[in-house]
Amino acid sequence: MKVLITRRLPGDYHKLVAKDYEIILWDKDEVVSREFLLDNIRDVDGILCLLTDKIDKEVIDKANKLKVISNYAVGFDNIDVEYAISRGIVVTNTPGVLTETSADLVWALILSSRRHIVSADKFLREGKFKGWDPNLFLGYDIYSKTLGIIGLGRIGTAVAKRAKGFDMKVIYYNKSPKPETEQYLLKEYNLKVEYRDLESLLKESDIVSINTPLNKDTYHLITYEKLKLMKRTATIVNTARGPVIKEDDLVRALKEGLIFSAGLDVFEFEPQVNKELLELDNVVLLPHIGSASFETRQKMAEIAVNNLLLVLQNKEPLYSVNYHQLKNAIL
Ligand code: DGY
Repeated sequence: MKVLITRRLPGDYHKLVAKDYEIILWDKDEVVSREFLLDNIRDVDGILCLLTDKIDKEVIDKANKLKVISNYAVGFDNIDVEYAISRGIVVTNTPGVLTETSADLVWALILSSRRHIVSADKFLREGKFKGWDPNLFLGYDIYSKTLGIIGLGRIGTAVAKRAKGFDMKVIYYNKSPKPETEQYLLKEYNLKVEYRDLESLLKESDIVSINTPLNKDTYHLITYEKLKLMKRTATIVNTARGPVIKEDDLVRALKEGLIFSAGLDVFEFEPQVNKELLELDNVVLLPHIGSASFETRQKMAEIAVNNLLLVLQNKEPLYSVNYHQLKNAIL
């Protein structure tokens, strides 16, 4: 059996695969080329891919014996899951292990985009610090303010937990209210989290954190009209997927001072970043590093490899997007 792996992963977990399977590895330090993907998908039994690899109908149609698409990410918007289902292919992902690391980064972005951390560091390195100044780099408080979480899933919940230390009021918007998560946060963390519709959340929050997956309901969830509802002193942070925010609209809002600041780890046309964003100093920009800790990236590799191997051995993967759907369809 053959397996296609589209990048060398931290921890060399792909060696586990090599014990029993022939590996075709894209061994360059860049996103796999479409050509290589299309050429090599033909006769592999499994693929371990990254969120940057578009596994669409064209790729799936080229595959003659593909049983599993193991995504090295929790998000799976790079994969045409519906089409994979129609072809009986299992799609797996790596939730859970990256939750806390990703939530840490949300807070790094909140802190840095409210308190000018990046610009202030640059200012100092450029030799511009001439002494304490009552008006230097004034930002807005985080402590005791209102945090609005869009998407109270695993990562959104981990972001909420951390707000306790900042004595914040926490509200959330989700496709539907999540009373069980509300109870969990109350019981385990003594943290009251209240549901709001999207408009109310945007109006009330001082800081908005986007933690929702990208799908047809969340594509361009945040537009200029929505940003207009926010406070002029507010910050929006997106570590989920770029297209949840209409990027041109965010640029306009930041330029017009409609909101105070933004922190972005993801972009609508990633890896391209809107040139105008690069010119603005009220936004902190990161290259999609939410889960980038040594520990977490290794755990993700371990899970992605195990998911792949389990499906190839006709067993249930640790985490999957469509395994039960496929099983039910067969029964
Ligand atoms: C994911 O897993 O979906 C993140 O965006 C990268 O870790």
